[in-house]
Parts: sequence; structure tokens; C-alpha cells
Amino acid sequence: MSPTPILLDGKTVSQQVLDACAARVRSIIDRTKVTPCLATVLVGEDPASATYVKMKGKRCEAVGMKSLRIELPAATTTDQLVARLRELGADPGVHGILLQHPVPHHINERAAFEAIPAAKDVDGVTIQSFGAISFGLPHAGYGSCTPAGIMRLLEAYKVPVTGKHAVVVGRSPILGKPMAMMLLAADATVTICHSRTKDLPGMVAQADIVVAAIGKARFIKGAWIKPGAVVVDAGYNAGNVGDVEYEEAAARASMITPVPGGVGPMTIATLIDQTAIAAARQLGVL
Ligand SMILES: NC(=O)c1ccc[n+]([C@@H]2O[C@H](COP(=O)([O-])OP(=O)(O)OC[C@H]3O[C@@H](n4cnc5c(N)ncnc54)[C@H](OP(=O)(O)O)[C@@H]3O)[C@@H](O)[C@H]2O)c1
Repeated sequence: MSPTPILLDGKTVSQQVLDACAARVRSIIDRTKVTPCLATVLVGEDPASATYVKMKGKRCEAVGMKSLRIELPAATTTDQLVARLRELGADPGVHGILLQHPVPHHINERAAFEAIPAAKDVDGVTIQSFGAISFGLPHAGYGSCTPAGIMRLLEAYKVPVTGKHAVVVGRSPILGKPMAMMLLAADATVTICHSRTKDLPGMVAQADIVVAAIGKARFIKGAWIKPGAVVVDAGYNAGNVGDVEYEEAAARASMITPVPGGVGPMTIATLIDQTAIAAARQLGVL
């Protein structure tokens, strides 16, 4: 058993990100007389999604930006949603657009995401944003907020990434895949695991850095973790439980994210900060 691991404290680091963001927002307003604005779009009445959107709006206002909340009925069609997103894309008073996902099943989510212009895609969900991050062209797009927030957290704790073996469990377009690309850009050697991976325990056991992005409570067992590894748990499941068996993993890891209070706050802070950056770019002050 290793000594108590260092907690990768997303609550504290995200507050530092938000404080720096507030200063950036003040400077944008001083120089341009324009207040940056994030538009959030919620389709339907899923209570968890409604809470996330509310929280994002609150954080936005806390750093001095405007938040424009758009709530559409669950019966909204793909065409209607695309049209609304295009309107927001063309509105010079809106600098960032977040479409809260998942959207109702009848909507073509990809078509909706792609209606967001890359310059306002502060949640990093479009093909252009993914391509920009994968090609190492950060000025051509924004990173998907959860993996980008994880990278900020690793940087804040000076976690060595170069040459390390990172194992990302999960390959969703908003989390696992961009996570792998970002770790690769930071010179890690990356393995991506998914539901068809053979011998997941053996894969995880090789990792210097494990990122769990599955969506299954306590699925990654503590016994799989290599002693001294860094464990990042992006999972957020019912009962505030992550994808990693926390206590058992913490007994072997050198650093670990708590759930809650690890990745979640970093995701929101990254969204808010990327909105301020997008506004500065659109207003010509960055
Ligand atoms: N904290 C935050 O801010 C934040 C943000 C976003 C998501 N999350 C959380 O992160 C988790 C993942 O989210 P997501 O949107 O990426 O989920 P997702 O789209 O459902 O993707 C889950 C991934 O896990 C893989 N997987 C499923 N079962 C597996 C198994 N038995 N072995 C190995 N891999 C398996 C899937 O593989 P296949 O591709 O083969 O199906 C898929 O790639 C969820 O708990 C979600 O709530 C948190």
C-alpha cells in the first residue's frame, strides 16, 4: 500500500481558473465596452441537464459575463434546433454557444453540433474543433471541455506526461477520443480502451496515467492500478460515484481525482474560460 495519494483538487484549481478568467473578462469589457456572452441551449426537461445548464449560467455571471439561456421544448425537431443554433451563430452579441447534451433521441445530435460555428464552439464539440486539437492547431478550435479541463488539472499539479503511458478507458467523441489526442499532443504514449478491449485489467495495469471515462460506477478496480499511477476519474454516475473504485485505487495511486470535486468543476471552468477567450478573439483583443 502506498502513502496517502495527492488529491487532484479540481475545486481549488477551477477557482483559480475562474479568478484568472474574471480578470480577462474585466479587461475585455474595459477595452471593447462589450460584455462576453455564453448562450446555453437546453432541449427538453431532463432535470440533471437543467441543473448543469443553470450551474454554467451562474458561473458565467460570477466572472462578469452574460449568460443567455434558451430552453426549447422536448418536441423540437432537428431542423428547428439547427435553425436556432445558426441564429445564435450569426448573433454578434453571442460569443460562445453550448448545446447541453444528450439531446432527446429523435434529434440528430451531430447535425445540431455542426450548426455551431467553430469560432463559438466553446464546448469543443464540432468536427472542426476535434480536428484542430488533433492537428495541434489550438487557434483553429476549442478543446472539448472535460478533457481540456483534465489537462489543466494535470498541469496545475505538474504531473509529468511526456513519455508516460496513458491509458484512456472510453472513446466517446466528447471525452475519451479528445482526451487521447490531448495526451498524445503532450507527448504521452497513449492506449485507448473501449467495450471491445480484451483484458482491460491488464491494459490498466500498464498505465502511468489512467483516465476513466466509461459511465459505469466503480467499474475500474483498485487492484488494476499500478502502484504510483495517476488516476483521473471523469465518470459521474448516480449517487455521486465515479468510474473508479475510489478507496482501493487511492491505496495504490500517487495522485487521484476525487468524485465529486475533481474533473467536474474543471469542465465548467474550462467552458467559462474558453468563452472569454472566444469573445476576446471575436472582438479582436487577443
Ligand atoms: N465530469 C464531467 O464534467 C463529465 C463530462 C462528461 C462526461 N462525464 C462522465 O464521464 C463518463 C463517460 O461519459 P461519455 O459521455 O464519454 O460516455 P459514453 O459516450 O457513454 O462513452 C462511454 C465509453 O465507455 C466505453 N465502455 C463502456 N463499457 C465499457 C467496458 N465494459 N469496458 C471498457 N470500456 C467501456 C464505451 O465503449 P464503446 O465505444 O465500445 O461503446 C464508450 O467508449 C460518464 O460517467 C459521464 O457522466 C463527466
